[in-house]
Amino acid sequence: MSQQMSRRHALAAGLAAGTAFGAAAIGAAPAMATQPAPRKRGSGNPFLEGEFAPVPFEVTEFDLTVTGTIPKELTGRLLRNGPNVLGLEDPLAHHWLVGDGMVHGVQLRDGKAEWYRSRWVRAKGTAEKLGEPVRGVPAETDFASNINVIGFRGKTLALQEGTARPQELTDELYTVGPCDFNGTWAGTMSAHTKLDPGTGELHSVSYDESTDYVQYVVISAAGEVRSTRKIPMGGTILMHDFALTEKYVVLYDQPIMFDLDAMEHGQKIPWVWDTKRPNRVGYLPRAGGAVTWITVPPSYISHTLNSYDDGGDIVVDFVEFPAPFSADRLSTSAPPALVRWTIDRARGGVRRTQLDDRPQEFPRVPDAQVSRRHRYGYTAATADFLKAYGHGSTPDSAFSNGLVKHDLATGRSQFHRFPRHASASEAVFVPRSGARAEDDGYVLSYVHNPDRNASDLVVLSAQDFTGKPIAQIHLPSRIPLGLHGSWIAGA
Ligand SMILES: [Fe+2]
Repeated sequence: MSQQMSRRHALAAGLAAGTAFGAAAIGAAPAMATQPAPRKRGSGNPFLEGEFAPVPFEVTEFDLTVTGTIPKELTGRLLRNGPNVLGLEDPLAHHWLVGDGMVHGVQLRDGKAEWYRSRWVRAKGTAEKLGEPVRGVPAETDFASNINVIGFRGKTLALQEGTARPQELTDELYTVGPCDFNGTWAGTMSAHTKLDPGTGELHSVSYDESTDYVQYVVISAAGEVRSTRKIPMGGTILMHDFALTEKYVVLYDQPIMFDLDAMEHGQKIPWVWDTKRPNRVGYLPRAGGAVTWITVPPSYISHTLNSYDDGGDIVVDFVEFPAPFSADRLSTSAPPALVRWTIDRARGGVRRTQLDDRPQEFPRVPDAQVSRRHRYGYTAATADFLKAYGHGSTPDSAFSNGLVKHDLATGRSQFHRFPRHASASEAVFVPRSGARAEDDGYVLSYVHNPDRNASDLVVLSAQDFTGKPIAQIHLPSRIPLGLHGSWIAGA
């Protein structure tokens, strides 16, 4: 079923300054066919080209066109953050991950896609580029907020890591300012915080370029910092993700080290893999106590699928790249795979099991399973996955036209293939009302539609994963290939 709805479109080509939030100027709706094409190849920087190319405007559109039927029970926003650089002076010197953050969102309610909005996150550096007042009390290092966006206690938070603090957004994605959790936290946060579905606590393991430790921070269900613990690392490391069980925090001590000299030698960012430093995994009791470290073979864990306690063992599922991993080039010698570690606490060892050797990234479990035993996981296939399995090629190697549903109880997986040359982003699971099974619900993903050079929000049935999409919500413009996001339920 196709619905043609009336449309109102606000286009911020000029980013009108002086309005309440530097908000979009209202303009005529550009027809979908007239969307700016991705930049042509030739900038010398692949993250400024094709589907990665930043969009030069903010968009607001109401009553989106839908193919199929949006389930009425899907009430909430699907949000996604990613780099969308402003004011670029030297394309060759630009690193994708330092680009200004832009959050994209679609509000669903009562079977309708009420709006799509895209907004730069006005961290200090981005607000200054836009010529707008800086929100709140900024820190010099709040230059971009571009990795993730979450919901916590009714707040929407855009997350970066390293030196940047969380930025609070309104429901309609305007930036309020840095979030300090009622004055209880002045530091940075992980881009991959974990919300314990049982306690309602938000857990973070934060690193900072100016320290040689990481901080384990717990924010209570009341929205204030409950505890902080410093964990010495013997150097300044980049810890992009960690894992959480009901009893433990699992830390990845991987040797991506802060090294300003690297910039003198042509790197775009000051992070270097130190081949002399061992890889370790550590588990820290949530209730208190010291970290137990175990040395593991070199590899790079990009993202955790999930982790849980299994008797005396700790199970950690994640996406693993071969070492060394270059944070500067975002590359390594071979594609990533889905791997399980079983940490044997009694014997002090780690058993490694390759769950799926096909290249994939952006692992997610349902929010209700975070830190609990999971059966199902969802990943985005990479282009190498498709080449290896004969599904055809895609525009780049980091994203592809496939999503994977893993049944880790049976070892089977299912593959949803979007049209050739489409690119699917991270999959987000939303449970059905009254769900009786872990996979009783929907899988949502922003998918680039090459025919329109614009993105669709695609809704799949998780229990009919290979079936036709339930709904495809057609956005008026392109969401550049990017990073992480969340479903935030509610109107
Ligand atoms: Fe990430």
